[in-house]
Amino acid sequence: MDRLLISGGRKLRGVVRLSGSKNAALPTMAATLLSPGRHRLRSVPDLQDVYTMGRLLEHLGAVVTLTDSAALVETSGVEGFEAPYDLVRTMRASVLVLGPLLARYGRARVSLPGGCAIGARPINLHLAGLERMGAEITLDRGYVDARAGRLRGAVIYFDVPTVTGTENLMMAATLARGTTRLENAAREPEVVDLAGALSRAGARIEGAGGSVIEIEGVDELAPLDHTVIPDRIEAGTFMAAVGITGGEVLIEGAEPGHLDAVIAKLGEAGIAFQAADGGLRVTGPERPRACNLKTMPYPGFPTDMQAQFMALMSIAEGTSVIRETIFENRFMHVAELKRMGAEISIDGSVATVKGVRSLSAAPLMATDLRASASLIIAALSVRGETTIDRIYHLDRGYERIDEKLRSLGAWVERIEPDSGRSGPFLVQRVGDEGRGHL
Ligand code: EPU
Repeated sequence: MDRLLISGGRKLRGVVRLSGSKNAALPTMAATLLSPGRHRLRSVPDLQDVYTMGRLLEHLGAVVTLTDSAALVETSGVEGFEAPYDLVRTMRASVLVLGPLLARYGRARVSLPGGCAIGARPINLHLAGLERMGAEITLDRGYVDARAGRLRGAVIYFDVPTVTGTENLMMAATLARGTTRLENAAREPEVVDLAGALSRAGARIEGAGGSVIEIEGVDELAPLDHTVIPDRIEAGTFMAAVGITGGEVLIEGAEPGHLDAVIAKLGEAGIAFQAADGGLRVTGPERPRACNLKTMPYPGFPTDMQAQFMALMSIAEGTSVIRETIFENRFMHVAELKRMGAEISIDGSVATVKGVRSLSAAPLMATDLRASASLIIAALSVRGETTIDRIYHLDRGYERIDEKLRSLGAWVERIEPDSGRSGPFLVQRVGDEGRGHL
């Protein structure tokens, strides 16, 4: 299992280019199931989760070719309808094939994802919505078995705004008979990106980005031809890294309009932002200031940035109170930050972080994707050598982050225990196939 070795204490400086958004690429890949033909997706990041989605599409009968930052998906041969446990358990976003399969083929069998490191994460709202659209859903030996004739439009209210739930139902509704109205829908930029991709393929969608989305079903869609938006969470992660080290970095591709809450809170912590050609220039303070934070659905502060923000607060001047409202178990990084000398106490969904002057190096264990990012940020502030184990979590969602950090002057090395040597970043492969035809 690869580990990262980080020797911090250097200010990050230079220019870094964002990759395409993981959480926008995955639903768009799933959406290729809605129409036969050759789909072309650009700015698809080179990530383990993208391979997993590619493997799932191939399992269903698609031909997937991943070239440098693009995905070509040929869906004419799709005839499968089952997302097996082995793929779903490695990536919950596999559930995104449920809506498209049901809408196009009238049948889907998708393994129930179960809980994960950050919470229980049920899919009851996806299922209730599809039932309102006329699907018959049964749970059978750990699988969701869904059947339908042509789905019909419906009014669907989400008890809580769910990102993949909104995406699943929006995709299903594009081919339904009549109009679907999604109320209390998720407003994330990734939902808007998917709506844009579908609309250009002939879908009739209005209101994406707001909390009510209306979709008028059509008989068929053309293949997708789409460029995925830049990754706003990757942007925020680099911002926090610059914030903890001081220094100055131009983040190319950063879309300020997607980052309002993140910029507001990091600004409160003392990080300066300046719009620049093609991105955002970020300048870190001498020492960050403590500020309080509450995670919220978009446009609130993203839960996917909470761990990284906490790393920054761990060396801030003053005490900050961080409230996690989206997932019930998203403080797994706290134990590791404490091993570095952070002073953090947890009471239910609230973490109180008393900023210390500096953290110290320690061997660390990554527990989930964003926790890994938080530990990297903390390690960048420490002069000694920190090792981070289990970084396969990181490879699920950050494209070449160690390489990107090195290009900004950080001392970060990937250690591959199998070969007994350390070396530059190696893309994690899916089986033996690697990137290319899956
Ligand atoms: N929820 C339900 N029932 C449902 C669906 C959701 O109760 O049927 C609850 C969840 O338990 C949670 C809240 O609703 O408390 C919001 O969850 P949501 O469904 O929005 O999360 P998701 O769609 O499973 C996506 C991202 C996550 C990100 C969350 C929140 C993708 C592929 N994943 O997950 O990304 O944290 O939205 O913004 O888009 C990550 O990238 O590290 C990651 C975990």
